[in-house]
This record gives sequence, structure tokens and C-alpha cells, in this order.
Amino acid sequence: MAGSSDELEQAYRLTLQDYLEGAGEAALSRAYEIGRKAIVDKVALLDLAAIHHQVLVETLEGARSRRDVAGAIRLAADLFTECLSPFEMTHRGFQEANATLMRVNEALAAANMELEAFSYSVSHDLRAPLRSINGFSQAIMEDYADRLDDQGKEYFSRIMAACNRMSQLIDGLLGLARITRSEMHRVAVNLSAMAWTIASDLKQAEPERHVDFTIMDDVYAWGDARLLQVVMENLLGNAWKYTARHEHARIEFGATGDDGERVYFVRDDGAGFDMAYVDKLFTPFSRLHGSSEFEGIGIGLATVSRIIHRHSGTIWAEGAVEKGATFYFTLGSAGGRCDDSEDDSAGGG
Ligand SMILES: Nc1ncnc2c1ncn2[C@@H]1O[C@H](COP(=O)(O)OP(=O)(O)OP(=O)(O)O)[C@@H](O)[C@H]1O
Ligand SMILES: [Mg+2]
Repeated sequence: MAGSSDELEQAYRLTLQDYLEGAGEAALSRAYEIGRKAIVDKVALLDLAAIHHQVLVETLEGARSRRDVAGAIRLAADLFTECLSPFEMTHRGFQEANATLMRVNEALAAANMELEAFSYSVSHDLRAPLRSINGFSQAIMEDYADRLDDQGKEYFSRIMAACNRMSQLIDGLLGLARITRSEMHRVAVNLSAMAWTIASDLKQAEPERHVDFTIMDDVYAWGDARLLQVVMENLLGNAWKYTARHEHARIEFGATGDDGERVYFVRDDGAGFDMAYVDKLFTPFSRLHGSSEFEGIGIGLATVSRIIHRHSGTIWAEGAVEKGATFYFTLGSAGGRCDDSEDDSAGGG
């Protein structure tokens, strides 16, 4: 930068001399080029003003009369203005680009809201016909049972199972839409306490399983308590589900990165997954394990990912088949360190 600044100073000095000696338009167009070069070389406007000042002082030192001084100052001002005009044009370009960007952003936000509202109302409206299909199937099964053979009954029970699944899918979609529509209230959330409560609920539901939980003490986050509960339930629930085929399992929750951005993690030593498909994990309804192996509809991680993004955080995963999985997340700068848990604290346990 120093080199290019020295070169600019030299060029400016020569141009000003020529201009004072009557070079006219040719010198002005060189001044314009100096301005352009300053932009390309990332020379700051104030540095350019300093060059102008320096060169002008030197020039005035050599002036013979007050009239010479006045004339030189006026001409130098013209030249400097010409030198600034590329900056002015660039600035206007930025302003226009910014205005366009803001308009595009507003249009995008409006389109997103419309899409969200559309998917919400479609999901909602699908419930009524689904209830009819399910209700009438059930009525036929009950009222016409004596007129149906086994195959007929089997078909109806399949219709009802499909209705049940579709109802879960709709609930998942509505849940996902609700995450974006709901308001966020950030408080200090005790994730450790939340994890203990969820772990104890999971154990209570399946007391026959041998799962060791290791939960780091006093891990706090600055976030929406209700949404973070959904995150923890899904991640720990997945860890619990995808270790079910191992006789003994280990599930861990903790956080790293004491000095910088906090990274929270949930780790298990269960079925794991193939890293080649890691991108699919957070897409709604996409699953890496079949329903016969592990039940689910594939909406949990999409919901988690949306919550993390609402907190301006990121989520990612690592895993290997039969070697377990680890899910990591951050909660944006506002969700970083949060040891002060005295006020507004939320969390189970
Ligand atoms: N801890 C884990 N270990 C291995 N695979 C996992 C784990 N967590 C998620 N996955 C994979 O990611 C997929 C998506 O997970 P997600 O939680 O979204 O759906 P799900 O658990 O199948 O169903 P649900 O909607 O009921 O949560 C799962 O189907 C599974 O293949
Ligand atoms: Mg899940």
C-alpha cells in the first residue's frame, strides 16, 4: 500500500504541476485516472486528501505572489475535485446496489412469509379430509365387520395406518411452520438440567435399557427456553433411539470452547450413519434408516436445524456406521457464553 501511495503522490504532483502550467483537460483526465487507481489500490479517501494537501503545500512554497497562491489554490481544488469524482461514482453505485439489495431482501422475506402461511394453511386444511377417511374406515371396520373378509379388513387397517402416518407428517409440518412463526424470548437456559430431565424421562419410558448418560454440569445457553427444549428433546431422543440396538450404550451432552464461541454437543455410540449422506440429515422427511429398523418420520432434525438458525447458530454432525454420531450446535453470538444464570433462568430439573 505504501508503494502505491508513493506512486500516487508522485503522479499527483506531476499532474498538478502540468495543470498549473496550463495542461487543461489532459491534466484533468489524468487526475480522474489517479482517482480510479486509488480506488483499485484501496487507497483511502483521507490518504488521497493528505497527498493533495502535501503536494499543494509544496507548490505554494514556490509561489512568488499572493495572486499566484490564489490561482494555484483554485486550480488545485478543480484538480482534486476531478480526482474525487470516481469515488463519488463508486459511492453512488454502492447506494444503488444497497437499495436494490434491500428491495430484494424485503421481497424475499414477504415471499417466505407467504410460503410459510401457505404451507401452514394447507397442512391445517389437510387434517379435515384425513379425519374423514380415517373415521369412515373405522366405521366400516366396526359396522360392516361381518360382511368383510380378512383381506378386506387388512386393506382397511392399512388405510388407517396410512392415515395415521399422514397425520404425523402433517403434525411435523405444522410444528416446523410454528417454529418460524413463534416469537423468541431469550433467557439463560440451563441445558444441563434440561438434559437430566429428558434423560430421566427416556429411562423411565424404557427401564429395561442399559444406557449411561454423561451430562456436563452447569452448561448454560442464552436462548428461547421452549425452543431449546425441542432441540434437546430431539437430539437426546435420537441418541436414545439410534442406540436401541446396542445392548449397552453411552450418551453424552456437553459444551466446548470456553474462550470463544460455545459449541454444544450430543454424542452417542449407536447405529451412526454414513458421512456420505450427512447433508440429508437436516432435510424434512429424509431419513438414513428405514422404518423397520428405527421408527420415525424424519422431521426432528429439520425442526432442530430451523430452531438453531433462528438463534443465528449453526448445526452439523459427524458419524460413522455402527460407531455412533455426534451432533454439534452453536447459538450465534448472543447465545455464546452465558454463565450468569441468576436472572431469568429456565430449564428442567
Ligand atoms: N443419533 C443418531 N444416530 C444415527 N443416525 C441419526 C441420529 N440422529 C438422526 N439420525 C439420522 O437422521 C435421520 C433424521 O433424523 P430426524 O430426527 O430428523 O428423524 P427421525 O428420528 O427419523 O424421525 P423423527 O421425525 O421422529 O425425529 C434419521 O432418520 C436417522 O437416519
Ligand atoms: Mg428424530
